[in-house]
Amino acid sequence: MNIVVLTGAGISKESGLNTFRDEGGLWAGHKVEDVATPEAFVRNPALVHDFYNQRRAQLFESAVKPNAGHLALAEFEKDGKANSFLLVTQNVDNLHEQAGSKNLLHMHGDLLSVRCTSCGHKQADWKEQHTTETICTACSVKGTTRPDIVWFGEMPYFMDEIYKALMNCDLFMAIGTSGHVYPAAGFVELANAAGARTVEFNLDHSAVSHAFDEHLLGSASETLPKFLKNI
Ligand code: OAD
Repeated sequence: MNIVVLTGAGISKESGLNTFRDEGGLWAGHKVEDVATPEAFVRNPALVHDFYNQRRAQLFESAVKPNAGHLALAEFEKDGKANSFLLVTQNVDNLHEQAGSKNLLHMHGDLLSVRCTSCGHKQADWKEQHTTETICTACSVKGTTRPDIVWFGEMPYFMDEIYKALMNCDLFMAIGTSGHVYPAAGFVELANAAGARTVEFNLDHSAVSHAFDEHLLGSASETLPKFLKNI
């Protein structure tokens, strides 16, 4: 069986990280156009750095750890029951890595990476504060780096690889995502076109629930381990 899994902010909610669109979520406290667009970064880089510095710092809080949902996905992949297993995440946290997931693509970027807009170098494993004074570790120029996050209006990463996997998948699972942001919200339609079984895991219905064959309502930390045990 070829499996593609898409995760969103909901899977990390019980690890202590806020979602974007739930009550009190990140977009309730911040305007997208102030912190998550290329224009915002040009207008006020310090504000954008501050937003992502706070998000990155949270990853090092002792309470922020992978939960049973992240762990179940990593364990399932390790067991090797599927012919192929691709985990695509919209999340920029590192909880899937911490849980042990291997075949993982961060389509919206990674909080622990910074990218130089001058030489293109990506510095992985970036744990510090990131400022307008940061010096690129490759070209040594000051002030040219930006968070390695896909902002609104930018092209998500790894799309060719993701589309190829979706077109060949037998099972597509979408976990903890509201279905408001494309192209990720449209993945279920591609999986349907490939004839895959499509399953949504969410506390509630999403904007694209109608496109799924099955819905497992509840916290992913409970529904996911049970579901994966029975595949
Ligand atoms: P959202 O905040 O839009 O949606 C989170 C979803 O998770 C909601 O549908 C919740 O019902 C669900 N949820 C919350 N807790 C859950 C739990 N314990 N178990 C299962 N489901 C739960 O987050 P995303 O859909 O990930 O992009 O947002 C997509 C993109 O929009 C993000 O990657 C980000 C944002 O703007 C960028 O920043 C580029």
